[in-house]
Amino acid sequence: MSVMSSQYIKHETDVLIIGAGGAGMRAAIAAFDSGSSVTVLSKSLLGKAHTVMAEGGIAAALANVDPKDSWEVHFADTMEEGVYISNFRMAEILSKEAPERVRELEEYGALFDRTPEGTIMQRAFGAHTYRRLCHVGDRTGLEIIRTLEDQILHRDIKFFDEFYVTKLLKDGERVVGAIGIKLNTGDIHVFSSKAVIVSTGGCGRIYKVTSNSWESTGDGLGLAFEAGAELMDMEMIQFHPTGMVFPPGVKGLLVTEGVRGEGGILLNAQGERYMARYSPKKMELDARDIVARANYAEIMAGRGTAHGGVYLDITHRGADFIKRKLPSMYKQYMDFAGVDITKEKMEVAPTVHYQMGGIRVDPESTATNIPGLFASGEVASGLHGANRLGGNSLADILVFGKRSGEGASSYSKKISQGKIDDAAISAEIERVNSLVGRDGLNPYDLASRLEENMSENVGIIRNEENLRKALETIQELKDLSKKAAVHGGLKYNKGLLQVLELPSMLTAAEAIVRGAIERKESRGAHARSDYPKKDPAMRKNIIYTKGERGMRLEWREVPKIPDNLRKLIREEEY
Ligand code: FUM
Repeated sequence: MSVMSSQYIKHETDVLIIGAGGAGMRAAIAAFDSGSSVTVLSKSLLGKAHTVMAEGGIAAALANVDPKDSWEVHFADTMEEGVYISNFRMAEILSKEAPERVRELEEYGALFDRTPEGTIMQRAFGAHTYRRLCHVGDRTGLEIIRTLEDQILHRDIKFFDEFYVTKLLKDGERVVGAIGIKLNTGDIHVFSSKAVIVSTGGCGRIYKVTSNSWESTGDGLGLAFEAGAELMDMEMIQFHPTGMVFPPGVKGLLVTEGVRGEGGILLNAQGERYMARYSPKKMELDARDIVARANYAEIMAGRGTAHGGVYLDITHRGADFIKRKLPSMYKQYMDFAGVDITKEKMEVAPTVHYQMGGIRVDPESTATNIPGLFASGEVASGLHGANRLGGNSLADILVFGKRSGEGASSYSKKISQGKIDDAAISAEIERVNSLVGRDGLNPYDLASRLEENMSENVGIIRNEENLRKALETIQELKDLSKKAAVHGGLKYNKGLLQVLELPSMLTAAEAIVRGAIERKESRGAHARSDYPKKDPAMRKNIIYTKGERGMRLEWREVPKIPDNLRKLIREEEY
């Protein structure tokens, strides 16, 4: 139902989903199939989601290629990779349900690569015990998005693209809807909804060098945090070992782990296969943090390439194989760098890829601590702990996207629409209008200072001095961002979008830095040169909440793992 007022257009829906990547789309399908009316809001266009950047595959213990694989081994791999601060129940759900979600995707029409026997092909990926990554060449995320998009279009799901949510609306403690702007028309829309799911992806764009696409500015983190939701593990930022290093316009662009999964090797400028020094057993297929730090160390030691990277070489696999298994990488290097990867080595370096932390959720339903608010996908936390296995994000978006849709739908059936506060709407419309048509600080300058600051001071290896510097700059940028404004009106104003994005970008950055200062140890992706060891006393989660006087941090015990699951974990510490 939609109603026009002079200032805004009002809609009513059972379940409102913010974000249309894999998690948002899977949630929409699940909520609709559970009998709810569903509306999806996307900052981008339908089918244009950052999910496509998970290229090499989706992790699911189908055991098609390695018959010994099982959900139990996938569970243990996930917990060990998370360095024991993951939520055990989320890891259990993921490893048990991922195979079902992959088969379902196939029924929806996804065309996976095949084994000679005709089953779904699986490839090796870092720190997975067995070959587990179901894939479509190196375009797995793209195939998932295409398939889910088809399913959305065949259901009566309302979809608003190029839409930016500026605020979640509350009735007392409960989230009851959202307000935002249709970017291409400048119209303001208000959605009254019994339940709201945030699936807006990550915040990689707060860094200068990242594999993340332009959408990943931490929007959902900021919205949920402002509405009172708890964030968790925000200090945990994953650097993918291999991003492009040149030309400058594509610096950071992902070079899929699938290259190493298919036999690619890493070499320094002296031609040494240096992973033998860092990880003699697993070599290029060790955990992402270990390979990324090895690449970084080689570059820092002066053994890097002319463009400041290391070499990734797959030429020995031959042109036919490379073009069949890694068609996007072939094209990406040819088009952007003029490099033929069937004959020449690639130059790569670590790139910011993923946020393990995010909104704290209940593993069963993905409900947050705020009634009516749910979260799934990269914006949610718990599953990956201190580090994420490659391919677990695609499994995450399907498994927890579905649970999110079902959880929100079930909640919405037990409750009526909340009261939308007219004063809150008027204030928000006034705020958005006040950001355009006048002189103010240039929001691009502020964003670019933030990106520089994060890349410079909150990188792959951290220390107290740099983190404190980073925090100081963030505080300054928070003050300056209040003075940001742009010329022009509400319609198709890219500058306005940048102003609107700034607060969430700064919230994400502040949480990352405060958490990184607080965690005086090295664990998984969080590496501190001044605290290089893991501290067992810090095998805890950090929770971030909005306090009266700013962001509050609190240590919280990791949920206690039951004995039957604990037995599956092979390493020390538990
Ligand atoms: O390297 C990759 O293809 C990325 C996959 C992932 O992050 O899961």
